[in-house]
Amino acid sequence: REYLVYFDIYGEGVDKEPKGVISINQDGTLFVHKPVDYEMKTMLKLVFEVRKPDFLIDTKLGVEIYIQDINDNPPRFHRDLYEISIGEENTQGSLLLRVMAYDRDQRGTPNSTFHYEIKHVSPNIADTEFFIDESGAISFKGCLDHEVAEMFTLLVEAKDHGEVVSLSSSTTVAIHVQDGNDHLPTFTGQTVSKVKEGEIGSSPLRLHVADEDTPKSPAWRARYTIQGDKGGHFEIKTDPDTNDGILTVVKPLDFEEGAQRELSISVENEVPYFSCKVKERTSSGQGPSVKIIVEVEDVNDPPVFAVTVKEAVLKENSPIGTWVEKVTAVDPDSSHVAHDPSGWVTVDPNTGDITTVKSPDRESPHVVNGVYSILLYAVDKGEPPLTGTSTLQIHVTDLNDNLPQMTTDYLDVCMSSSVTNITAFDLDENPFGGPFKFELLGDVKGKWKLNPSYGRETHQPGVYAGPYTINVKISDLQGEFGVYNLSVTVCNCSVTPTCRTQRKTATKAASGAIGIVFASLLLLLCKKQAHCLFFFFLVTLYTVVL
Ligand SMILES: *[C@@H]1O[C@H](CO)[C@@H](O)[C@H](O)[C@H]1NC(C)=O
Ligand SMILES: *[C@@H]1O[C@H](CO)[C@@H](O)[C@H](O)[C@H]1NC(C)=O
Ligand SMILES: *[C@@H]1O[C@H](CO)[C@@H](O)[C@H](O)[C@H]1NC(C)=O
Ligand SMILES: *[C@@H]1O[C@H](CO)[C@@H](O)[C@H](O)[C@H]1NC(C)=O
Repeated sequence: REYLVYFDIYGEGVDKEPKGVISINQDGTLFVHKPVDYEMKTMLKLVFEVRKPDFLIDTKLGVEIYIQDINDNPPRFHRDLYEISIGEENTQGSLLLRVMAYDRDQRGTPNSTFHYEIKHVSPNIADTEFFIDESGAISFKGCLDHEVAEMFTLLVEAKDHGEVVSLSSSTTVAIHVQDGNDHLPTFTGQTVSKVKEGEIGSSPLRLHVADEDTPKSPAWRARYTIQGDKGGHFEIKTDPDTNDGILTVVKPLDFEEGAQRELSISVENEVPYFSCKVKERTSSGQGPSVKIIVEVEDVNDPPVFAVTVKEAVLKENSPIGTWVEKVTAVDPDSSHVAHDPSGWVTVDPNTGDITTVKSPDRESPHVVNGVYSILLYAVDKGEPPLTGTSTLQIHVTDLNDNLPQMTTDYLDVCMSSSVTNITAFDLDENPFGGPFKFELLGDVKGKWKLNPSYGRETHQPGVYAGPYTINVKISDLQGEFGVYNLSVTVCNCSVTPTCRTQRKTATKAASGAIGIVFASLLLLLCKKQAHCLFFFFLVTLYTVVL
C-alpha cells in the first residue's frame, strides 16, 4: 500500500487456545513465542487483517498454520504388567499372550512406527527361550517345566524408529507355569478282600498309586479303567483324597460261574500325560496297568429248576407206578417235593422221577381242560433252606371210561301230547361221547317207539293213564352202552293240569290195573348231528297208549 497500514492477527494461537503462540508486528513479521504440541493441535486457523489509518479494514486474509510433528512420544504399553498362567503341557510355538503398545506421534511416520523386543528373561534357562513378534505375540521354544521354573519374568521393550531420536518404553510380563501331567501315576500296592456272591456294593479291592505331579491337580488325580470285566460286574472310582482306586461290585457275582475273576486295571491322569524334550514333545502316553484277582465266596443259592414249566402226557387210568416225567433242579444237593392236588403221583426226592400212585382220572375236578398241574419244589440243605419251584403240566389223555347216562330216570307224558324228549350225556370227550344211539329193549312193539326224526305227528287213540317202565339202551360213538329203567307216567292232563298231582293216584291205579293197559311208545332219535347238542342229545318219546 502507498499509505500507512496496520497489521492485526487473531484466532487459534493468538486469542483462542492455544493462546499467545503467535504475534505479528507492524512490519508484518510473524513471531512464534512457544511450542505447540502436534499431539494436541495439528493446525492453527487464524485471520490476518490490514487496516487503513482511519482503522477501516483494508483487506482480510485467512491463514492456516500446519504444525510439524517431532518424535516426542515413545510407544507406550497398555499395561505396566502382564500376568498369565499357563500349563506346562503347552507345546512350543503356541501363543502365550500378546502385549500391545501405542505411539501417539504422527501416524505412518518412523516417529510412530515401533518394534517389540524381549530385553531380559528371568530365570534364564537354556531349554526355554521366549520370542515376541511384530504384533506383540509372545511364544516360546523348548520346554516349560513347572518343576524347573514356576514363573518367568520378561522385560519387553517397544522402541520407535525416529530418525533423529529413537524413543522407547518397557513393560513386565510374568508367566506362571502351572504343573502339567508330566508324571504318570504308578501302582504302589493293593488291599484285597473277598466278595460274597450275589452281593452288590462291596469293595473287594483298593489300588494304591503314587503321582509326582501337584497333588489334587488334574495331573495328579488318577482315572482307572477296568479291562476284562465280562458281564459288567465291576466299577472303579477314584478316592478324591488318597487317589486310591476303589473297585466296587455293581452286578452280583455267581460263585458257581467261577471262584475267581481276573481283571486288568489301568490308570491314567485326568489330563493327558505328556513328556517334553527340547526338540519334540510327545503327549497322550498310556498309563500303567495291573492284573488283579477278585475272589468270590460261595453263599447258598436257591435251587433252580432247569425249566420252570414242564409238560408231560399221561394216559387216563394208567396203572399205578407209571413213570410220568423226571424233573431236576440245578442245585445238586436239593431234594424234590411235589404239591399234587389229587395225590396221584410221588416224586423221588433225590432223582426227581415222578411216578403215579393212583390211577389218573381225566374226569377229576382237578383236571382243567385235560391238564392236571403239579407244583414241584426243590429244597436245598442250606441254613435257612432255600426253595425253587417248577410246574409240571400233565396232559391226561382221555379213555372211554364213562357210559352215556340219562339226565333223568322218570318222565311225565300227557295223553293229549303223547310225545316227550329223553336226554343223555357222557363224561368222556369226543370221540368217546355222543351223538348217542338210543334203543328200546323188551317187548315194546306197538306200545313205544323212538321217533327217527323231529316233528312227526302220531295218531293217538285213547290213552290210559298210569306208570310204565321202559328199558332204554343208550350207546356212545364207540358202542359202549348203558341200559336204564325209565319210569314214564302217562296222565290225562285235561282232568288235572299237571301229571305231578296225579302221580300218586295213578301209581295206585296202575298197580291194580296191570295187564289192562298197554302202551305203545314212539321214540324219535335225533339223527341229524346239527340238531343235537354236544353232550345232551334229545330224542322224542312218543306214547301211544291204548
Ligand atoms: C520426526 O521427528 C523429528 C524430530 O525428532 C523431526 O525432525 C522429523 O521431522 C519428524 N518426522 C516426521 C515425518 O514428522
Ligand atoms: C323235544 O325237543 C325238541 C327239540 O328241542 C322240541 O322242539 C320239542 O318241543 C321237545 N318236546 C317236548 C315234549 O318237550
Ligand atoms: C280224560 O278224562 C276225561 C274225563 O274223565 C275224559 O272225558 C277224556 O276222554 C279223557 N281224555 C283222554 C285223552 O283219555
Ligand atoms: C330195571 O328193572 C328191572 C326189573 O324191575 C330190574 O331187574 C333191573 O335191575 C333194573 N335195571 C336197572 C338198571 O335199574
